[in-house]
Amino acid sequence: MKTNIIPRDGELVGPWQKDLFTAVQTGRVGNEVFDCLIVGGGITGLTAALLLQQSGKKTLLAEAHTIGFGTTGGTSAHINTFADTTYNETESAFGTEGAKLFADAIREGFDLIKSNIENYKIDCDYELKTGYLYAENEDEVKLLAEIFEGALKVGVPVKYVTEVPTPVPYEKALAWAGQAQFQPLKYLQGLQKAYLAAGGTLEEHTLITGVILKNGVLTAENAVQSIKAKAVIYATHMPPNINLFNFECAPYRSYVLAVQLKSGQYPDALIYDSQEPYHYVRSHVIDGQELLLVGGLDHKTGHDDPENAFAELEKYTRTYYNVSSVKYRWSSQYYVPVDGLPYIGKMPLAPKGIYCATGYNGNGMMLGSIAGRLLSDLVRKRPNKYAGLFDPCRVKLIDSFSELVKENSDVAYHFVADRFGFHETDSLIRLEPGQGKLVEVDGRKVAAYRDEDGTIHALNPTCTHAACIVNWNGAEKSWDCPCHGARYDIEGRVLTGPATRDLGRYGDEK
Ligand code: FES
Repeated sequence: MKTNIIPRDGELVGPWQKDLFTAVQTGRVGNEVFDCLIVGGGITGLTAALLLQQSGKKTLLAEAHTIGFGTTGGTSAHINTFADTTYNETESAFGTEGAKLFADAIREGFDLIKSNIENYKIDCDYELKTGYLYAENEDEVKLLAEIFEGALKVGVPVKYVTEVPTPVPYEKALAWAGQAQFQPLKYLQGLQKAYLAAGGTLEEHTLITGVILKNGVLTAENAVQSIKAKAVIYATHMPPNINLFNFECAPYRSYVLAVQLKSGQYPDALIYDSQEPYHYVRSHVIDGQELLLVGGLDHKTGHDDPENAFAELEKYTRTYYNVSSVKYRWSSQYYVPVDGLPYIGKMPLAPKGIYCATGYNGNGMMLGSIAGRLLSDLVRKRPNKYAGLFDPCRVKLIDSFSELVKENSDVAYHFVADRFGFHETDSLIRLEPGQGKLVEVDGRKVAAYRDEDGTIHALNPTCTHAACIVNWNGAEKSWDCPCHGARYDIEGRVLTGPATRDLGRYGDEK
């Protein structure tokens, strides 16, 4: 086994990226027509790929970077039987039956991870823990009561408890027994091994820029080849290019610190508060040393300063825990769906045979797993009881309209403001090494980054997705789009969709 650092979509290195084997490229695309092309090598793509390949479908998984490069490589890997969209919220939007189905899906995703770990003997630090959610004031106590009622109504076991392993003073708390955590990249690589062993084809560094229907076959284009398939699954977290989901899902960044405590006492639990934005803590043994993972302070991508979020998170952590050192800090992205449930199924307004999955909120481990199973069933034309509930073509205008407006009001602002140049700019001269900024040079906007050698990397800041202006993310050293969450590295290369084209370089322009 070779020790290396698995890359991910940010500059900060999280604890999952070390000591894993280098991913294998099989390079067997040729001219054949695959039963299914899966675009994206995260938990959704690999779960679907494994199920399809094992069912006898000839499958190709194409990943733009390397396996686990996206959000699966940056998740804090909570495996729960409850969800960010609570069961009472689900019931109000989708009825009691809808809420029960959602609870079943979450449970099935949970169980699928467990059975994969057992079946493929994946050594991924999987551990069962009790999950606690506590309330610190009267309003949060009311919220807790609703969550309690909602969970019981759909058959998810939960109870009130008086003891929570947290130093934070609280009023009331709920506990879910039998929750879990794991090391997500080890899990992913276990799936990858099983997929390759089953005869699956994997192409890394293969960015699919679009899929068209050509002579009755879906044809995916990338820079060097055409790939033909009877079905295509976008397991890219957000389907690429401009699509309906740009208006139905809002991108968020979430932050994590992994710290060592002077006391050496780490909570043996998954613990969440009810604040908005919330905090959570859990522990994990990394490189033989136990660490406390403290996360949260989520905000919409490209809107707040990530360095502030990290500073606030560290302040919060030091308020309640005796920290001896901060070992890791990193951030990751997820998408909040407008009506609370993910979109998994046939891609709206796309040719027949194209499927997608997005809008997992903060529950990507369970929902990514269940999406993998649902999508593989759809490709195999097998019934799946969640197909209707998660159908991307569903319309929930009445329930979701106000949320849609709320989530996207700032998108509308950026669409207008970015095009007409109302942003503050700064001078290139004052740009420090390691710093990026939007500046104005000769009347045009430049996304400028000065590297440690003093070289300026100047990009056209116009997002190639739908022309909003990107903002600098100083923590991950990336350019993040505030509209639909596309992200680019300092050379302008796409890190995160929905964009599929790199930012223009001013040096390259004629
Ligand atoms: Fe849509 Fe940038 S991600 S405009």
